[in-house]
Amino acid sequence: MEKIICRCEEITEEEILEAIEMGFTTVEEIKRYTRAGMGHCQGRTCRALIAKIIAKKCNKPLEEVQRVTIRPPLKPTPLKVFADSLSELEEWREYEEDG
Ligand code: FES
Repeated sequence: MEKIICRCEEITEEEILEAIEMGFTTVEEIKRYTRAGMGHCQGRTCRALIAKIIAKKCNKPLEEVQRVTIRPPLKPTPLKVFADSLSELEEWREYEEDG
C-alpha cells in the first residue's frame, strides 16, 4: 500500500525516496523535483514529513534538513474583487474618453 506524504499533490513516500536516490537531498530540491509542498497548503502538512524522510535516509540531523522558505497558503479570491476592478477601469476609460 502506497503511503501518501503530500496529500495536496498526491506524492508518495516512494517518490520522495526515488528523488533522494537521484541526489535531491534537501526539502527545497524534493519540492522542486516532485512538487511535494507546492499544493494548496504550501507544505504545512507534508514539509515536516519530507524532512524526516530525508534526515533518516541521508543520516543527517533533522535541523539541518528543515531549512526552507515558507510561503503563506493560497487563499481563494472572490470574483467580486476582479469585477469591482473591471467596473472601476471602465469608469476610468469613460472619464478619459469624455475628457
Ligand atoms: S500536503 Fe503537501 S502541499 Fe499540502
